[in-house]
Amino acid sequence: MLAIIGGTGLARLAGLRDARREVVRTPFGDPSCALTFGHIDGAPIVFLARHGYGHTIAPHEINYRANIWALQEVGVERVIAVATVGGIRGDCAPGALVVPDQIIDYTSGRHGSYFEGTEQPVTHIDFTEPYDAETRARLLAAGARAQRALIDGATYGCTQGPRLETAAEITRLERDGCCIVGMTGMPEAALARELELPYAALCVVANYAAGKGSSSTAISMEGIRRVLDGAMDSVREVLEAAV
Ligand code: HPA
Repeated sequence: MLAIIGGTGLARLAGLRDARREVVRTPFGDPSCALTFGHIDGAPIVFLARHGYGHTIAPHEINYRANIWALQEVGVERVIAVATVGGIRGDCAPGALVVPDQIIDYTSGRHGSYFEGTEQPVTHIDFTEPYDAETRARLLAAGARAQRALIDGATYGCTQGPRLETAAEITRLERDGCCIVGMTGMPEAALARELELPYAALCVVANYAAGKGSSSTAISMEGIRRVLDGAMDSVREVLEAAV
């Protein structure tokens, strides 16, 4: 079974048939929302809205451990995570869809591991390639099938938020090699790896990052809304093709 985690602008999956919701509790607390089970083209899907169905949970307040645990608990075998980002690299312009291949984690104070406490042995997961190759390939093939251009490969810089970055912070991220910037990619990806759940991300560029392009002096919230309204149909088409 495939799980889709929806981010900003994707709190519901319109194409989900026979949808029913189920509350799942975990040893790490409650997920962002009840899980929605349904079918797309006959394939079973679980959907989880990362920020809650009412979009009320900020990136630093999301219980990432509960979200990923709940998905595994109900039998999910693969996760596609949708997330909005700011664009840093020139081709990652507003409206672009990106399948990142690397991550740099700038977050702090988030619960980033299931391996805590003295009852379990110290465990270090391999995270050289943070995204699952097969799930990435599936997304890229889905983009081709849906005739939607997807950018293959980008380094995702994950900031703490909830505020957007300063122009100097974006310059630093760019120097570090980041191509896109978001607030929810970590620890989500690492937790999925700890549970050995294949995980890849489909990122929607909502705006130029601070100091870049049309965001040279400020980031327009109205602009973000407009871009997301326009891009979410493409995201849905790619997801439906990926299923
Ligand atoms: N920075 C961080 N996260 C984001 C941005 C951004 O510019 N746009 C959408 N999510």
